[in-house]
Amino acid sequence: MRVGVLTGGGDCPGLNAVIRSVVRKGAQEYGWSFTGLVDGWSGAVHDRTMRLDVAAVRGILPLGGTILGSSRTNPLKSPDGIDRIKETVAAHELDALVVIGGEDTLGVASRLAEEGVPLVGVPKTIDNDVSGTDYTFGFDTAVNIATEAIDRLHTTAESHKRTLVVEVMGRHSGWIALHAGVAGGANAILIPELEFDLDEVCGWVEKRFEINYAPIIVVAEGAVPKAGQMVLKDDARDEFGHVRLSGIADWLAHRIEGVTGKEARTTVLGHVQRGGTPTAYDRWLATRFGLHAVDAVRDGEFGTMVALRGTDIVRVPLADAARGIKRVPTGLYSEFGIFFGT
Ligand code: F6P
Repeated sequence: MRVGVLTGGGDCPGLNAVIRSVVRKGAQEYGWSFTGLVDGWSGAVHDRTMRLDVAAVRGILPLGGTILGSSRTNPLKSPDGIDRIKETVAAHELDALVVIGGEDTLGVASRLAEEGVPLVGVPKTIDNDVSGTDYTFGFDTAVNIATEAIDRLHTTAESHKRTLVVEVMGRHSGWIALHAGVAGGANAILIPELEFDLDEVCGWVEKRFEINYAPIIVVAEGAVPKAGQMVLKDDARDEFGHVRLSGIADWLAHRIEGVTGKEARTTVLGHVQRGGTPTAYDRWLATRFGLHAVDAVRDGEFGTMVALRGTDIVRVPLADAARGIKRVPTGLYSEFGIFFGT
């Protein structure tokens, strides 16, 4: 059997761990050979491939990024995108594809599966917002990086008695903000799922100053004020129509300063959250996803995605992942309200 492997969308720590476990298990246990499709769907559309054997995956377990490269290319945007992918699959005599990606990449995979391309999906994203799986790998690493940053910001905020606003990734979901904010002891956490009230946030800031502590506010990049607009860096959009976000932290710091009369500064963590070596947990989850994806291919269970349910890896229809993103439930967010402003 010959299997093509690709990684699509924004990269995240743990991608190489999946690639390694797919190739190691497929080659060592089943005697399969592999072809790497370079830069996500772009490589599949334009027939750009690379050697992918056991030697090629030696030593990559702790490496961040992806040895296959990635892109946000959307083949559904061009009229012949699907046909070109089918041509590449035929040209390399691929019996199956393993597609590692987030909601957008897996959405394309779901469509291709409907068109008869034999493939299995593996969910990834630092945002943890792929539907159908409890967790994605990459998320734990991002949360740890953001938590460490918040820990560091506490001491400098205290020294200067100023508000520090920390912006973390998360366009449409606040999983990183919530987990890192809780772990880092934030005094307010603002997420895209719930519009925030600027007056309430300023009230939390004042309360925190009253008890002689400096406020730390963690805000997801996609959080928006009540009756407000998303704060955009510019109008640029990727091929899946997503805008480039950044700016909510500056906007917020500026307004907090205006209302409270006390200095407020901003830290935007950005791509630091996506780079570098994966945590042990992300390596563990990514490795398990890879092993189970190979077995799904062996069983001919195409059109499925491997997913985490509790501590088990299960197979779910790819359509589950394409159904829309997994948001933070309001009830979960509310559990932490007692820490806001205190
Ligand atoms: O989808 C993962 C993610 O890291 C989001 O949290 C973030 O909004 C986006 O990617 C940034 O994408 P890019 O690196 O393409 O600007």
